[in-house]
Amino acid sequence: MEIRDKNVVVTGGASGIGRAMCERFVAEGARSVVVADIDHGGAERVAKQIGGMGVSVDVGDEASVRALVDAALIECGPIDLFCSNAGIGAIGGAECPNSEWERIWSINVMGHVYAARAVLPGMLERGEGYLLNTASAAGLLSQIGSAPYAVTKHAAVAFAEYLAITHGDQGIKVSALCPQAVRTAMTADFEGGGVAGVDGMLEPEAVAECVVEGLRAERFLILPHESVLMYFQRKAGDYDRWLAGMRKLQARYLGGP
Ligand SMILES: NC(=O)c1ccc[n+]([C@@H]2O[C@H](COP(=O)([O-])OP(=O)(O)OC[C@H]3O[C@@H](n4cnc5c(N)ncnc54)[C@H](O)[C@@H]3O)[C@@H](O)[C@H]2O)c1
Repeated sequence: MEIRDKNVVVTGGASGIGRAMCERFVAEGARSVVVADIDHGGAERVAKQIGGMGVSVDVGDEASVRALVDAALIECGPIDLFCSNAGIGAIGGAECPNSEWERIWSINVMGHVYAARAVLPGMLERGEGYLLNTASAAGLLSQIGSAPYAVTKHAAVAFAEYLAITHGDQGIKVSALCPQAVRTAMTADFEGGGVAGVDGMLEPEAVAECVVEGLRAERFLILPHESVLMYFQRKAGDYDRWLAGMRKLQARYLGGP
């Protein structure tokens, strides 16, 4: 898909990767860009800067996602590309309280489900539409130190795969964006991006560049860090060896046995 003349919605558009995508889509000649975020002021600021429309949304709340899609339809017309990008992190494993697991699940997984539920009927009727779901390399590999993040990002990849399989022959395109560390508010507290920064930190603008290229090629997996593909292949090729390697990496970063 070429972005030129397309109507685009980006959740999490006030900051980081979402913001860089909004800016890049405008530069690529999008007809309209809706900047949607729970941070209403931030969404308004980015929208004003790029000449888009700022909308406040909580992607973990279905009615709010529905309202975003309705507003975009009324103001801009049919949505060609919906970037379900908003996401949050978490630290810890099984000991994380249920409330934290439920919160991250509602945003990192149900956010994609609510978006698809709201935009798919119109896209299927038109026989075209594109869903770009931001997951993470953690959704293909893992996230050392964060079970809720690893689990929800795996689920995000699985949902994107499902959409691509189920609706690919009905004109629906799907991509899963799976970066490692990117210099955004999410990684600001981790020196060098923490363990996810093992292959270096990318700027959000570089990720947006890969997104435009990946959308143009209509490729399912968009991997701004190329090494992720190799790790993913190694994982599939020898799971036990891969797990041993991950334990070594963990020991290096977190200090382990
Ligand atoms: N930064 C990284 O290293 C990295 C790597 C891989 C994947 N990702 C993913 O990229 C996406 C964007 O993250 P980022 O790094 O740009 O972080 P960021 O914190 O800079 O931006 C995230 C944006 O999402 C918004 N948001 C949070 N909860 C929301 C909600 N419930 N509803 C609507 N908006 C909400 C925030 O207000 C913020 O503007 C996330 O899904 C994240 O998991 C980030």
